[in-house]
Amino acid sequence: MEFNSAALRKLFESRRSIRKYKRAATLEELRKIVELARLAPSAKNMQPWKVSLVTDPDLRVKIRDEVCRGREFIAQASLILIWTEPAIAYKSWRAVDGDNTADVDAAIFTTYAILAAKSLGLGSCWIAAFDEDKIFDIFPDKKRKYRLFAILTVGEPAEEPVPRGRKSVDEIILEER
Ligand SMILES: Cc1cc2nc3c(=O)[nH]c(=O)nc-3n(C[C@H](O)[C@H](O)[C@H](O)COP(=O)(O)O)c2cc1C
Repeated sequence: MEFNSAALRKLFESRRSIRKYKRAATLEELRKIVELARLAPSAKNMQPWKVSLVTDPDLRVKIRDEVCRGREFIAQASLILIWTEPAIAYKSWRAVDGDNTADVDAAIFTTYAILAAKSLGLGSCWIAAFDEDKIFDIFPDKKRKYRLFAILTVGEPAEEPVPRGRKSVDEIILEER
């Protein structure tokens, strides 16, 4: 039994989080990534995601310094800010206190985006370590309507990180009943 797409398998196996970049992705490249990421599944197909595509060097530096605690590589790359729109996300049967699927849906969207970036020959890193309040100082029009779910750095890799270990299949499978 083989995966019927060798290219897809290679994509999964060779992707790494990239934290050093030669150049930032172009707007055209970012748009191509969104073109694939938007195919991600979401609860009730609500697609409660929006993105801001940031290629402007000054804005990237500002986001790095004010929102992401100054990690250098964040300004070396272009940024996809992934926002959720909780008001339009599906409220599942297990929802309590207005809980909804916005974050789950956005995580799938973001995963699709990092694989799409890889398929364009670009590197990316999913950034969750940010100060959400500070992003609204820079994007005040997003306040109250959107939550910032993730920041994705995207650019041409300047490093080839060694694979970080993964649990084996047997460590993951609890049981086969
Ligand atoms: C939800 C999530 C949040 C992450 N947040 C950060 C982050 O804030 N900063 C960072 O450098 N990497 C972040 N990463 C990248 C992980 O550290 C990385 O995926 C993990 O160590 C495995 O390495 P690999 O992606 O190279 O296989 C995040 C990844 C995920 C999925």
